[in-house]
Amino acid sequence: MYPIISSQELAPAINKLIVKAPLIARKREPGNFVILRAALTGERIPLTIVDSDPDKGTITLIVQSIGKTTMLINSMKAGDELIDVAGPLGEPTPVENHGTVVCIGGGVGTAVVYPIAKALSEAGNDVISIIGARNAELVILEEEMKAVSRELMITTDDGSAGRKGFVTDALKEILERPGTLSAGSGAVYAMGPMPMMRAVSDVTRDTGIRTWVSLNPIMMDGTGMCGACRVTVGDQLKFACVDGPEFDAHQINFDELIARNRTYADLEKKALETCKS
Ligand code: NAD
Ligand code: FES
Repeated sequence: MYPIISSQELAPAINKLIVKAPLIARKREPGNFVILRAALTGERIPLTIVDSDPDKGTITLIVQSIGKTTMLINSMKAGDELIDVAGPLGEPTPVENHGTVVCIGGGVGTAVVYPIAKALSEAGNDVISIIGARNAELVILEEEMKAVSRELMITTDDGSAGRKGFVTDALKEILERPGTLSAGSGAVYAMGPMPMMRAVSDVTRDTGIRTWVSLNPIMMDGTGMCGACRVTVGDQLKFACVDGPEFDAHQINFDELIARNRTYADLEKKALETCKS
């Protein structure tokens, strides 16, 4: 059992949880994730490890209530326990000095990009970050991202914070600055909803700038055994849980991935309705 030490609402329907998981806290590296179950009969869901404190034996998770399980997790309080938390899973982010990097977090995807931006900053990169959200209330980790970035741009769809528009608008602006990023130097890391990651990939495709995204396909075991998380990357079949979750954005078959992620949409909707009624 994995006790919840604290649960704090960061934004409507988005909670930050500190969970006691000493072994995971000790081994975790940026880019790793866990797969957890909130209850004995529940599904298993992947969540990025946003941060960890090996001394206290805790990990930080950020959870958006989008389905039955995430709603259940966000209703849990300090002292409640998660049934199981498996990890750290996935390949850690290869942290190197690219020169300038643009780290993009779309909505709750900011929780995924934050540990990567932090590691890239510590490795000496010049980090420019972009956080995008639908509105001001949904901007998360602003102070944390500011602390690891030379420059932080915020975009909101409705213009209620930062500049009005999508993260891709801010990215295009950065790419127009002379000498910032080019095919041979610099990199873009984009984490968030699938349409956003595809849109970022489309923006950088012809520039040759290396672009990495973190995929969140359906996952079950997280160990490469079940095949649930398969994605087509270039001409190869990859398992996001063991080969990823980060991949070269320009090689990903996003159409296939988006279609596969909708496989259980009806069942997920029914489960959510049952839980609300
Ligand atoms: P959202 O839909 O509110 O979008 C956040 C921002 O992303 C927008 O403000 C915009 O700037 C950008 N964006 C969205 N669609 C875009 C498009 N078509 N073109 C350009 N920019 C676009 O985000 P949300 O509701 O916080 O995201 C939830 C989704 O993120 C869930 O579906 C979840 O599955 C996914 N998610 C992904 C990861 C990951 O590892 N990649 C992690 C957590 C959540
Ligand atoms: Fe089963 Fe990746 S989740 S193979």
